[in-house]
Amino acid sequence: MEKKPLGVLIMAAGKGTRMKSALPKVLHPILDRPMLGCLLQSVLSLEGAEVAVLVGSGGEEVCAYLECFPTVHPIWQREQLGTAHAVKSAQSWWEEFENLLVLNGDLPLLQASTLTHFLNEHLKSNSVCSLLSFQTETPGSYGRVVRRQESVSIVEYKDATEEERRIKEVNAGCYAFSVSSLTRVIDKVRNDNAQGEYYLPDVVALLGGSGGCIQATLAPECEMLGINTQAELAEAAARLRERIVLGWMERGVRMMDPASVWIGLDVSLEQDVTLMPDVQLWGRTEVGVGSSIGSGCILRNAVLGKNVRLSAYVVVEDSVLDDEAKAGPFAYIREHSHLEREALAGKFVELKKTHVGRSSKVPHLTYMGDATLGEDVNIGAGSVTCNFDGREKHATKIGDRCFVGSDTMMVAPVVLGDDSVTAAGSVITQDVPPGALGVGRARQRNIEGWSLRKNRKEQGG
Ligand code: UD1
Ligand code: CA
Repeated sequence: MEKKPLGVLIMAAGKGTRMKSALPKVLHPILDRPMLGCLLQSVLSLEGAEVAVLVGSGGEEVCAYLECFPTVHPIWQREQLGTAHAVKSAQSWWEEFENLLVLNGDLPLLQASTLTHFLNEHLKSNSVCSLLSFQTETPGSYGRVVRRQESVSIVEYKDATEEERRIKEVNAGCYAFSVSSLTRVIDKVRNDNAQGEYYLPDVVALLGGSGGCIQATLAPECEMLGINTQAELAEAAARLRERIVLGWMERGVRMMDPASVWIGLDVSLEQDVTLMPDVQLWGRTEVGVGSSIGSGCILRNAVLGKNVRLSAYVVVEDSVLDDEAKAGPFAYIREHSHLEREALAGKFVELKKTHVGRSSKVPHLTYMGDATLGEDVNIGAGSVTCNFDGREKHATKIGDRCFVGSDTMMVAPVVLGDDSVTAAGSVITQDVPPGALGVGRARQRNIEGWSLRKNRKEQGG
């Protein structure tokens, strides 16, 4: 039977002990995406490749995540006895291919272009195995690439001599094999080493030893970091952050202090967006042309139109702000809220599941939950929708051109008709008809001479 051209096997079954975490290592997020997802994005861009992921430790969780990638095939490695054992566990899958690319699952910075170039070089050469290596000043626990005359082999740090440990070229954990050659040697790997594991790098030595051509290609260090510890994860995130921020500046986004800005992998920004220092943009956030985001703002799944102005310290989650809307400083716009064009959510305002109609203003100190505001509404300072009765949430509807007096409590469910007004300090428990004034407060009375009499009494008069 004719073989398929290329299989890609990602090894993600290891325990990841050095992370000291209950979360499987490959699911640790880098920025806001699991590191396995970062690698898969690069891998899935390879044309004509079939992709499988080895799962084992924390495998149920990893499989659940892989459901986001319907074309990716999970393969179980029930016992984790090392990287060569991992590859062996998937043999019945990869035997159907001409060539096999094997990747460590903890390589989140590897870019699609590097991978494509590496594969093309492997296919052009007549190597039985190609691998990516990189030069580093901090070779740490990486396997060392030992080059002797024509031969290339890898020595694991724990098995290396003092002299070998001084080598600064290391194995990145990215290999391409001709499948027929791999099949010949995979069963010959032994585990008589410092860790008692079956090492995939030993396959390289076995192939070299049997006369095959091995090609180790140098790759940029910034893409090849392998993540084993929390500190390495943070370092990789910092590098990815920088890559993303530079990319957006190239596309016309202005940043006063790019070093303090964090932008997730699924964010999209348009030209002439301005980001002030300490901004964080996550999830599927989108920001339209000319909008500006003030210092300390955190946006997650926020969709902002054109020329939106967020001043300092605005948090927006799962909400939409149309063109020319404004918010902040210090506003919290929560799930399923929508500010229409030119609407405002001002100082110390919290909105939840609230629709603010065109040009309506909620300027200060207000909570609006489960509310719908029409157009040209003004909400006075200190007003609150009392949307929760202790059991259920209820809706408040505020019509067009309403003027809600300061410190109005709207006890939901309640409707304020178009053009209605509420008196400051009112507790509104009944609907207010269109055009009416709703007053719901005790009438003030003044007691003449009260204070004078009190003072006289206290002075014993
Ligand atoms: C490995 C290489 C080392 C290289 C380094 C690059 C080996 C023996 N050593 O070391 O030469 O410099 O990567 O980062 O391969 N895994 C399984 N099943 C197992 C064991 C591991 O799926 O039984 C997976 C892990 O989940 C991980 C990957 O293989 O994604 C690499 O394993 P890891 O333990 O991180 O290897 P390193 O010690 O980093
Ligand atoms: Ca590793």
